[in-house]
Amino acid sequence: MKVTKAVFAGSSTRVGQKPQLRLPEFAFIGRSNVGKSSLINMLTGNGKLAKTSQTPGKTQLVNHFLINDKWYLVDLPGYGYAQLPDKERAKLRHIIWDYINHSEELVMLMVLIDSRHPMQEVDLRFIAELGEKGIPFGLVFTKADKQGVNALQNQVTQNKERLLVDWEELPPCFVSSSVTGLGKEEILNYIGSILTTL
Ligand code: GTP
Ligand code: MG
Repeated sequence: MKVTKAVFAGSSTRVGQKPQLRLPEFAFIGRSNVGKSSLINMLTGNGKLAKTSQTPGKTQLVNHFLINDKWYLVDLPGYGYAQLPDKERAKLRHIIWDYINHSEELVMLMVLIDSRHPMQEVDLRFIAELGEKGIPFGLVFTKADKQGVNALQNQVTQNKERLLVDWEELPPCFVSSSVTGLGKEEILNYIGSILTTL
């Protein structure tokens, strides 16, 4: 699938405030600073669409981007940012789960994991919660350009093996780099294939 049009469609903190147009939504989630906003920019070919930052905690709202006038990419705030005061973290958690639990148009979540590191407790707990609630998800191992091919393969394999301790089968898995564009076609084609089944 090609992205021919990508437009910012609004920010919200509650599902009731999201864009009124009801279209399928694919949302990106993961630890703060893992590269959610950068991946959205890479997929849409617009480096300025979603705001990115070296400082974790940049995205604090649910941001909808209308793609090809047919579906939404949704940029969510990050979870598990330890530096935030408890109150702020609780607020973000509320925004995230209000969206996940109540957005009727949510088709699936892409959970982003930094490809350089073992999955952390906070990632495993988040994924377990998705499983309990029956929310469909895929995984994207991000920042692939930041290490060599062998190290990348090893870490991704290790993470998949860790997942198979808790899960009978793996979800759809992708490897991406917002710098080189790795994973762009695979992720967009996957989303395209799901859209044709709706
Ligand atoms: P929050 O909104 O704070 O939760 O972060 P985020 O997950 O949206 O991360 P963001 O896209 O803002 O990226 C965080 C930092 O990582 C920025 O400095 C990006 O330039 C960098 N980054 C993101 N993706 C990649 C990547 O694929 N490769 C490299 N080398 N850097 C990346
Ligand atoms: Mg962000």
